Amino acid sequence: MSSLSQKRIIVGVTGGIAAYKSPDLVRRLRDAGATVRVVMTANAEQFITPLTLQAVSDHSVHRSNLLDADAESAMSHIQLARWADAVLIAPATADFIARMAHGLADDLLSTLCLATEARVAVAPSMNQRMWQHAATRENVAVLAKRGVSVFGPASGSQACGETGPGRMPEPTELVESLSALFGSQALGGVKVLVTAGPTQEAIDPVRNITNRSSGKMGYAVARAAAEAGADVVLVSGPTHVPYPEKVRVIPVISALHMHQAVMTEVANTDIFIGVAAVADYRPAEFHQQKIKKTNDQLTIKLVKNPDILTAVAKSVKPPFTVGFAAETENLEAHAREKLMRKGIDMIAANRVGDADVGLESDENELLILDRMDTKRLPRSSKRQLARNLIEEIATRYCAKSTSKNIRRAHR
Ligand SMILES: Cc1cc2nc3c(=O)[nH]c(=O)nc-3n(C[C@H](O)[C@H](O)[C@H](O)COP(=O)(O)O)c2cc1C
Repeated sequence: MSSLSQKRIIVGVTGGIAAYKSPDLVRRLRDAGATVRVVMTANAEQFITPLTLQAVSDHSVHRSNLLDADAESAMSHIQLARWADAVLIAPATADFIARMAHGLADDLLSTLCLATEARVAVAPSMNQRMWQHAATRENVAVLAKRGVSVFGPASGSQACGETGPGRMPEPTELVESLSALFGSQALGGVKVLVTAGPTQEAIDPVRNITNRSSGKMGYAVARAAAEAGADVVLVSGPTHVPYPEKVRVIPVISALHMHQAVMTEVANTDIFIGVAAVADYRPAEFHQQKIKKTNDQLTIKLVKNPDILTAVAKSVKPPFTVGFAAETENLEAHAREKLMRKGIDMIAANRVGDADVGLESDENELLILDRMDTKRLPRSSKRQLARNLIEEIATRYCAKSTSKNIRRAHR
């Protein structure tokens, strides 16, 4: 089965000469099993008619006017952004790439690109000098850094009579690249349990102890696992992050609550990924009434919370267990010590305390350690990093399952 089967793809068409190839691209994506909706910029309509793209996609085409009440009532730009599993802009003009790099949102397609959580890919297509211009190079680098995939461009003779890089790859190649983006469904049918976010440890009815975890990384990991074909359960502490699609979410508040939810689910889990920043301690006593400001000093006694990661690793039939370590110093040494002490299979460590990476930020970098090795996943968006991490987990999980099966067969 193609990895594009049943995937919902938005093809964005912008005003470049290669727009004549877009209908073929739409047709081939549908042949691969995808459902396709087309969004065109106003300038794209100078190159190809919406009617052609409507005919090949079998859906009316979303045109550029963001403020069209009729179009919004059919499917709003936000609904469209949520609907998509991937957005592929082909052709992507130099102009559109520049608008994306600057986060403009002045028509439907550019707004969608900002609003979507889906994978976004661009297939640049332009004159070779436009492609090689420093402005375009920098804009493309910005997009790539944000996790946008760049397909091509190919090199060769161009419509303008020049020769060089800037041709949009052929539709068959774009279908292959998009399919590769969805990966090999490496976790098809695998049951994955993820924890995310902070926990809140109540002191009295209005106060609690918590931490600065945003939940973004855990949600990105849950989403990436679902994209890789896994059945995902996400046990989430209180966050403001929208629930990922195709993931069953169990909302919890405290560490005890999270521990209970995880232990209920774990028997039915193949891979456990503990991303939550679980409070190590909770107040020993919960005050039924709000504590009054009568004394100059207040002492709150704390007691240790259960260690969820260790509990999972020691459960009767432990899943492949992955922990996270947030450290402010000696990252690798602390992470390796935690890996060994907790008896888990793998750990992903990140440095926290800097404003631009880690807990609350949209970007992160990870050091991943297993019993044998250490590998660095370079800094990128949490969404992209989560996908890379899931690939690493899938490889190790498959290797462990295979060696277990071989051992069983030899008994
Ligand atoms: C005949 C013609 C062909 C063009 N082909 C391209 C092209 O292949 N790539 C590109 O980046 N711009 C091309 N342009 C310029 C774009 O159409 C222009 O930058 C436009 O503003 C793009 O609008 P859009 O990005 O909103 O679709 C072409 C312009 C003309 C008149």
